[in-house]
Amino acid sequence: MKKLIAGNWKMNGSLAANEELLAALAKGLEQRPSCEVAVCVPAPYLMQIQTLKSKSPALAAVAVGGQDVSGHAAGAYTGEVSAAMLKELNCRFVIVGHSERRQYHAETDALVADKTKAALAEGITPIVCVGETLAERDAGRTEEVVKRQLAAVIHTNGHCISEVVVAYEPVWAIGTGKTASPEDAQAVHAVLRAQLKAATDQSGRIKILYGGSMNAANAAALLAQPDINGGLIGGASLKAADFLKIIAAAN
Ligand code: PGA
Repeated sequence: MKKLIAGNWKMNGSLAANEELLAALAKGLEQRPSCEVAVCVPAPYLMQIQTLKSKSPALAAVAVGGQDVSGHAAGAYTGEVSAAMLKELNCRFVIVGHSERRQYHAETDALVADKTKAALAEGITPIVCVGETLAERDAGRTEEVVKRQLAAVIHTNGHCISEVVVAYEPVWAIGTGKTASPEDAQAVHAVLRAQLKAATDQSGRIKILYGGSMNAANAAALLAQPDINGGLIGGASLKAADFLKIIAAAN
């Protein structure tokens, strides 16, 4: 299966900075990568990114994604962005259930499952994030937590679960410079893989990404694990040289 390297810009960027970053990516991607590449950008920049893409053949290889989506289709939900809106802006992906949304916006497993459903209804591939906190890991609860988070999404989405991308992002590794060892990450990925296998006979096509301080130096070892099918990259996706090195490691 093709690996997927997805950048999560989080709440970073500006019109000028985005243009610079994409120009540098275009330069590095003149030779089309053999892995899939995506950038998940703040909603106000989706149009800008699509415009820049349309002007650069090298950026054709870069899919665009959102970072969150409403669980509702439309209506009186001030501040929310619907899956239909993301679709209109040609989003191929949307991140759902990122730990920063679970933590700072009190997103529950049920809400994450609804958001996944809303994205799938528009034909957008949700990148569903799961992961344990440091306290949960220290308490030996990693497996229980990620399985509970994924189970909610499976429960709500039934056989459509084969259309999602899963991202395992240990919360303690996000933005901290601490990465799960390739073996520890693989162990959790294997648990998730088994859970997906029990849910659908199409589980073989589901990509499971690793996220959490993946960088140019550690990407190759993580991506070499049998159940790690790509990466969700935060900080390192904001620096073209680093992001390109991760893409190269996945090729
Ligand atoms: P990080 O973020 O690579 O900066 O740790 C990953 C993520 O939160 O998706």
